[in-house]
Amino acid sequence: MKNFINLIDIPAESLRKIILDARKRKKKRKNLSSLDIDKDNPLRGKLLIQMFEKSSTRTRLSFYLSIRQLGGGVLNLRKDELHLAKGESLPDTAKILSTYGNAFMLRTDSDKKLDEFKKYMTIPIINGLSPSSHPAQVLSDIFTIEEIKKKPISKLQICWIGDPSNNVINSLIVASLKFSFKLNIAFPKKYYPKKNLYKWAINKKGKVNLLNNPKDAARNSDVIFTDKVISMNDKIDKSKKLKDFKKFQINKRIMACAKKDAIFLHCLPRGPEVTDEVFLGKQSKVWQQALNRVHVQKSILLYCFEKLR
Ligand code: CP
Ligand code: NVA
Repeated sequence: MKNFINLIDIPAESLRKIILDARKRKKKRKNLSSLDIDKDNPLRGKLLIQMFEKSSTRTRLSFYLSIRQLGGGVLNLRKDELHLAKGESLPDTAKILSTYGNAFMLRTDSDKKLDEFKKYMTIPIINGLSPSSHPAQVLSDIFTIEEIKKKPISKLQICWIGDPSNNVINSLIVASLKFSFKLNIAFPKKYYPKKNLYKWAINKKGKVNLLNNPKDAARNSDVIFTDKVISMNDKIDKSKKLKDFKKFQINKRIMACAKKDAIFLHCLPRGPEVTDEVFLGKQSKVWQQALNRVHVQKSILLYCFEKLR
């Protein structure tokens, strides 16, 4: 069994294998409905337990469809429904979840909790977003980019404009090394990527470029990414941060600096970091991006069960 907690701990070959498997599976499902099971029924009888300590729309629904399409079932838990919230220990809870379920997906407000669960669980654990990373989202986004651009992401220029140190960009920085792509990151001067992570990327000869001008960052890019300025786990002065990022809102002038056929991506939910015009415009691929979570997470589940072909 394997865990899927942080991209940094997963070999590049395994990440590539997940994407290739997702591509094959998606193709085979062309004429199937949401709840139809893949022909090979690879996770028949398996139960995915998912627990949400934070809100979720896409992760909750897409993992539900992922496990169902592989032949398994899902149980959703909220922390406040469990004795865990009232004093039962995490080790005992982890052992109980491992007794009833076959895999555990956790959206958490604490990276430490992921490590703790990992320590005591005997079933695979999947990170469905933590304060420091969102690996399932980013792997799925790479799938979407390659699906649309029809070439390996290593041949593309990727640009992120916005918060340089939230969970999604942290995973994107790691992905830029695992998949060897060029990544421009633009943000206001007093902000900065997570220091250790950026240092790691530069030591590993990553092609990560930091800029303070959004137009310069967008220039010649194939993909423009952004995310909410305020993340769920942010403990900051929200109105100040929103003000600081005002000039980094993605609008059509910024999009015009990118390549003509550039696409816009956003993991959602959105805030004022993008105009309606761009978000709902032709270059935006956000709905396809959200749907692909289902396909990639199926292959992530198969990776965890060591059933990737
Ligand atoms: N992108 C994403 O993870 O969405 P949710 O927070 O709705 O799950
Ligand atoms: N960075 C965002 C991602 C939401 C899916 C957050 O953590 O709130």
